[in-house]
Amino acid sequence: MTDSLSARVAAALARVRNPRLENDLFSAGMIRDLAVTEDGKVSFTFLLSRNDPATLVREARAAVRAVDGVNPQELRISVVDPGGPAASTHAPPGAPAGPGPGGAPPPAPAADYPNLGRIIAVSSGKGGVGKSTVSANLAVALARKGLRVGLMDGDVYGPNIPRMFGVFEKPPVVQGKIQPLQAYGVKLMSLGFLVDRDAPAIWRGPIIMKIVQQFLRDVEWGELDYFIVDLPPGTGDAQLSLAQSCQVAQAVIVTTPQEVAVGDALRGARMFEKVSVPVAGIVENMAPYTDPATGVRLAMFGEGGGQRLAEELKVPLLGSVPLQPGIADLADRGKPIVAADPESAAARVLTAIAERLVEVAGGRSLALPILRG
Ligand SMILES: Nc1ncnc2c1ncn2[C@@H]1O[C@H](COP(=O)(O)OP(=O)(O)O)[C@@H](O)[C@H]1O
Ligand SMILES: [Mg+2]
Repeated sequence: MTDSLSARVAAALARVRNPRLENDLFSAGMIRDLAVTEDGKVSFTFLLSRNDPATLVREARAAVRAVDGVNPQELRISVVDPGGPAASTHAPPGAPAGPGPGGAPPPAPAADYPNLGRIIAVSSGKGGVGKSTVSANLAVALARKGLRVGLMDGDVYGPNIPRMFGVFEKPPVVQGKIQPLQAYGVKLMSLGFLVDRDAPAIWRGPIIMKIVQQFLRDVEWGELDYFIVDLPPGTGDAQLSLAQSCQVAQAVIVTTPQEVAVGDALRGARMFEKVSVPVAGIVENMAPYTDPATGVRLAMFGEGGGQRLAEELKVPLLGSVPLQPGIADLADRGKPIVAADPESAAARVLTAIAERLVEVAGGRSLALPILRG
C-alpha cells in the first residue's frame, strides 16, 4: 500500500468507534482540522461532548500513535466541548477563541504537553493529610534519581510549595514565558510566587481554569520526565480544570489511616475515574510511628485505612508513610525530608513510593542509580 501518511492516520481514526453514536470518530464528526505533515507531525481537534467518555481521546491517541510514520512526540490533540455552558470558553472548531473576561488571554482547549512527561496529580479528599508533603517529596525523590521533574502547586487556595522549598522569589519572565524557580533539582511554579502570600484566595471556577492552563502553557518548563501537580483537597475546580486541560497520566490519592479521611479519599478517587484519569494508587500518610529509642508506638490517626481504601478501589497501596517527628519543622524551613533526612523512616518510604510510581508508570527503566547525599 502506498497510502499517504495522512490517509493512514485518517483510517486509524476511522477504526475507533464511539459506541454511543454507533459510529466511528470520523463519521461521527468528532475529528476536525486534521493536519498531518510528511515528517510525522499530527494535529487535530477532538470534539468531545459531555455524553462521551474521555477515554475516546485516549483511544484515538493510541490509534494514531500506532500508525507507522507518526512521530508520537509531535502528536497534538485539542479537546473541545462542542456544546454546553463550557463551550464559550473553548474555541469553536477552526476559529480562535475570543478573549476571556477582563481581556485575559483566551484559555486553550485541553492540549497535549509532551514536554511535561508524565503528569501525576496528587490529590486527597480532605485537607491536611499531607498532599503537599507527599508531592514535594515525591518530586525531590524523582529528581534525586536523575529524572527531570517539575512540580506545579495546583493548590490555588493555599499554595504551600514556596514555603516547603524555601523559595519565595518572583519568577522571571523571559520572552513572555514565566521561568520556573528551582530547588532540590525540581522546577517549581506556584501561585504563591506570583501573588501576595496573605492575599485571600477566593478564586472561582473560570479563574482557576485559567491559572491551571497558564501554569501548563505559559511556564517555560522545558523537557521533563515527570510533572507532579499538588492539588487542593476535594473534588473541585482545580481537579476538573487539570483533567480538562491536559492528559493527566495518573492520580495519586493521599489519605491518613483514619476512617473519615478514607471516605473522603474514596470520593476523590471516584472523581478521577469519572474523568478517565487512572488512579495509580494510594499513599497512606501519618501512619503509626514507633520511636526507635523508646519503642513507644504513636498511632495518632489510626491504622490500616490506606490498605482498606486500596482494596476498595482495587489499586495498589503505594506506601504507608509514618508520622515523622520533625517533618513539619523541616518543611517550614524549606527542606523536604527526602533531601534533609533521607535515612528517616518517612523519607525511605517516600523514596520507595517514587520508585513504585516509576514502575507503575512504566516506560522508563528503574535501573537508575539512586543518588544520595
Ligand atoms: N508523615 C508526617 N508526619 C508528621 N507530620 C506530617 C507528615 N506529613 C505531613 N505532616 C505535616 O502535616 C501538616 C499538613 O501536611 P500538608 O502536606 O501541608 O497537607 P495537605 O497538603 O494535604 O494540606 C504539615 O504541617 C506537614 O508538615
Ligand atoms: Mg497542601
